[in-house]
Amino acid sequence: MLAKTPPMGWNSWNTFAQKVNEEIVLGAVDALVEKGYKDAGYEYIVIDDCWSLKNRDKDGKLVPDPEKFPRGIKYVADYVHSKGLKFGIYSCAGVRTCAGYPGSYGHEYTDAKTFAEWGVDFLKYDFCYFPASGDNKNAYLTMSMALKASGREILFSACNWGTDEPWKWMRSVGVHMYRSTGDIYDNYKSFTDIIQSQEDKFCMSAPGCFNDPDMLIVGMHGIGHVGEGCGYEGCTDTEYESHFVRWCLCSAPLMIGGDIRNMSPFCEKLMQNKNLIAINQDEEARPPYRIDATSFQWSPKEVFIKHLSNNRFAIAFFNHADKETECQIFFQEAGIPYYSGVTFDITDALTDEHIGVIDQDYFKANVPSHGCRIFTAEFATR
Ligand code: GAL
Repeated sequence: MLAKTPPMGWNSWNTFAQKVNEEIVLGAVDALVEKGYKDAGYEYIVIDDCWSLKNRDKDGKLVPDPEKFPRGIKYVADYVHSKGLKFGIYSCAGVRTCAGYPGSYGHEYTDAKTFAEWGVDFLKYDFCYFPASGDNKNAYLTMSMALKASGREILFSACNWGTDEPWKWMRSVGVHMYRSTGDIYDNYKSFTDIIQSQEDKFCMSAPGCFNDPDMLIVGMHGIGHVGEGCGYEGCTDTEYESHFVRWCLCSAPLMIGGDIRNMSPFCEKLMQNKNLIAINQDEEARPPYRIDATSFQWSPKEVFIKHLSNNRFAIAFFNHADKETECQIFFQEAGIPYYSGVTFDITDALTDEHIGVIDQDYFKANVPSHGCRIFTAEFATR
């Protein structure tokens, strides 16, 4: 089964966009292995838009740009495989990709076969230049079938930005993850707006097919395409922590968009945090349950509990205010009234510090401005 848990990997777009080339991709492969990401669970290396020539060859096949990929795409795929990783590429359901390269509309079976021959394991499939006469759902179904008929197991990552409520049909057309929103930018408001827009949709995200609220911006610090390239200055480390924790809490795919060859130690450690990745990869993939009665529009605090497998839980506090605040969870709101005699034994998931068995009927913690705290909890008795 593909995408049994949320897919994890690296994608070229957020930082490199049209500047992507062999040197960058092979460098990312080496960094994934040498800097610990592979051991932490990151698996896919994905080349996004801008890898091909602007025209197909005389047989109607896509052609890698020889300046960017002088040894072709198969060479890159072989290199990725030689490191025990999986390789992904990008195309588009429309006639052109968003950056103007040939799309797969009407060429689905040829392109899927080409990708299979090159050793592709993952296809991101975009939605630009989609003909007005085309059928959105059928276009994704057609490529899904083409991939399955290609003879190679290829994870299908759809990217129609939430058009036509993809959470209602992407699973049934055989997709393994689907972008549910417009593009993320290296900015606090961008990622909070995105994740909040999907809160009531994550109940439809489950093993085999996950809602994808877009790639990570962790550690970009304004450098790259979705940062300064689009007029954004980047986030603070505290904000990146909130972003990564939120993606983990929602069982979102973890596709790193930063330059992993040159990541800051803080962000490298964050994205490899074992406790956070275990929460993200929990096999039950349950959506978080909101405890605070008010929505973000009403309150700067958000409090969630997420059920994990084996009677374990994650408790998360987010603070959107511009100053530190105290957040709390009353256990009664989490289904554990005081009279039950049951309480939680709590560990800070970010620091791995064991806090211990909580005697009161609530648990509280200080949360920095734009920051979060996340804990794992197990049952204990008072
Ligand atoms: C957008 C997509 C981005 C990136 C870009 C490439 O539509 O949402 O993630 O793939 O196209 O041009």
